[in-house]
Amino acid sequence: MRVLGIESSCDETAAAVVEEDGRVLADVVASQVETHAPYGGVVPELASRAHLKAVVPVVRAALAELPRGLDDVDAVAVTKGPGLIGALLVGIQVGKAIAFSRNLPLVGVNHLDGHLLAPDLHYAGAPHSPPPRPYVALLASGGHTALYLVDDDQEAELLGQTRDDAAGEAYDKVAKLLRLGYPGGPIIDRWARQGDRSAVPLPLPMLHRGLEFSFAGLKTAVAQLVSRAGGPEALSEMQVANVCASFQHAVVEVLANKAVAACEDRGARSLVLTGGVAANGALRARAAELAEARGVGLHLPPRSACTDNAAMIAYAGARELAKGARDGWHLTAHSRDPARRRGRFSRDGSPIPRVR
Ligand code: KG4
Ligand code: ZN
Repeated sequence: MRVLGIESSCDETAAAVVEEDGRVLADVVASQVETHAPYGGVVPELASRAHLKAVVPVVRAALAELPRGLDDVDAVAVTKGPGLIGALLVGIQVGKAIAFSRNLPLVGVNHLDGHLLAPDLHYAGAPHSPPPRPYVALLASGGHTALYLVDDDQEAELLGQTRDDAAGEAYDKVAKLLRLGYPGGPIIDRWARQGDRSAVPLPLPMLHRGLEFSFAGLKTAVAQLVSRAGGPEALSEMQVANVCASFQHAVVEVLANKAVAACEDRGARSLVLTGGVAANGALRARAAELAEARGVGLHLPPRSACTDNAAMIAYAGARELAKGARDGWHLTAHSRDPARRRGRFSRDGSPIPRVR
């Protein structure tokens, strides 16, 4: 079965075609980074408008990779949430239009399931090693930071998540504080390479406290430091690089240590890093070091599969369709993910109360 996937939950308009075994036949992404850069973050209304402009050319470009275009497609999968409602609706309406014009099955996909399944994708010419199940997945993006245990049936158990900001959100906000530009992740990563991570003391939030995360305090610590120095303009390039190095060190230490701790807790022999922050070189290197020391196999999808894309949506959709799922006309958008707000577990497996 060949599935056309459409993704429009945030600031990437994407379309892809994937075989049900994960082989990627087409993978097209149009980024809106330039639209949102002047604001230091995604502006929902601008995102919806940009999706509207990009979605048809992007879908066309993906279909052009198939010998017979849309005639080669057997089903349509589209991101139904979580995400920006106005942005999601663009992809959903286009998915519905294509499915109904061709009488194809249509299924809505949870964006997070897409990220969790990214390591199964198989790109032509790239090495392919799907992680053995069960695996722990660290999903760290602009909207989410959480650890999951993924089993044979692709069921994902939430092991812990952030209590406040997502890791990518913290990167973006710190970059904005330092007036470095958007998106913050890759920019801070570049600055951090020139800096000394021990020059500026920053907290390692909740490092040895369970599998939950918290990044808001770290961001505030940077804000206070910048304000004490007299604002971002008062910092020398070396100071900016040092702040970036120290901030990145804190985020990477927390993410990598908790991810490996989750594997040990749940007896998982494989760890997957996914989501936009998983494109970070320092995180990949630190996770590799810790995983090797503890005998855990590390699976790193290619960077383009870690950030938002439609191949992961098409593949997750193919798995849903194989289980008999169909949404058709009933498909609607969800800004949040109610299922995943339940099931918060401490490291010994007991539920933890919501902390406000
Ligand atoms: O998964 P993604 O493309 O979109 C969401 O679903 O949020 O993740 C985007 C996030 C942004 O916050 C961006 O700053 C961050 O991923 N990011 C990075 C890197 N590349 C992107 N963070 C750290 N290091 C990177 N190299
Ligand atoms: Zn995402």
